[in-house]
Amino acid sequence: LKSSYDNIIVSEPSPGVALLTLNRPKALNALCDALLDDLIHAANHFDKSKECGAIVITGSDKAFAAGADIKEMSSRKFDEVFMKNMFKQWGDVAAIETPTIAAVNGFALGGGCELAMMCDIMIAGDKAKFGQPEINLGVIPGCGGTQRLIRAVGKSKAMEMCLTGNMIGAEQAERDGLVCRVVPAESLVDEAVKMGSKIASKSQVAAKMAKETVNAAYELNLAEGLRFERRMFHALFATEDQKEGMAAFIEKRDANFVHR
Ligand code: HXC
Repeated sequence: LKSSYDNIIVSEPSPGVALLTLNRPKALNALCDALLDDLIHAANHFDKSKECGAIVITGSDKAFAAGADIKEMSSRKFDEVFMKNMFKQWGDVAAIETPTIAAVNGFALGGGCELAMMCDIMIAGDKAKFGQPEINLGVIPGCGGTQRLIRAVGKSKAMEMCLTGNMIGAEQAERDGLVCRVVPAESLVDEAVKMGSKIASKSQVAAKMAKETVNAAYELNLAEGLRFERRMFHALFATEDQKEGMAAFIEKRDANFVHR
């Protein structure tokens, strides 16, 4: 972890919870390469840390992130974006193994919406706005907006967002299943940290396995997914946390899970 980053603010607001705040206010947190490098650097640090059980990613009241940085990419040529495989490193965000929560206030547009969708859970402030406006720029989403969005909200709504560039508000995002909960904007980060704290208090091995197993549902058919789930369930019987968690229930006390 660096002592400071140019484009994000890092804090640990509660034991076991890392808070990464996107901080390029003049550009509404547009996701330039340098910001993404900072985010991945800090996230990887916490992903490896024994103490960290949840990572919250947030932006400002006005913008979670207004998308990839249009000014940075506008003059790039095909050879360049293809040879550098532009946006490939975003996969590193989706690959974080620690549970991640996106706390979204304001605009989550284009790559901003896609970044939020890479997180495991999305909580929205009541003024959040989600959209995939790339069509207005003569392009299409490039980091999951056509793939993760359809899995979250279904074809017709995903098509509307990707083809018209229309934004949806927080309430609709909750109705559509894009976000798990809408809270007043001013308590958004507190609520997300509280949720992170709750997750961090569980067995970390079980939490990581739950995350991996839920995510496997994106990739597998039902029979394979159920088999994978059952095998992961079996594997947990090799952990101290399973013995402790079940003993604590029977003894009517709180579980004291191992921190690795
Ligand atoms: C670069 C951006 C930016 C972006 C805003 N800014 N979004 N800079 N890339 N994506 C800059 C503006 O240029 C401006 O800088 C400053 O932030 C404030 O923005 P305004 O437009 O003046 O604010 P406002 O009028 O309040 O409008 C807010 C907004 C609008 C509706 C969010 O900024 C907007 O439409 N932004 C672009 C949204 C978008 O198209 N996103 C998709 C990007 S493509 P100056 O210097 O002029 O003051 C994408 C592809 C994803 O994400 C592919 C995978 C990653």
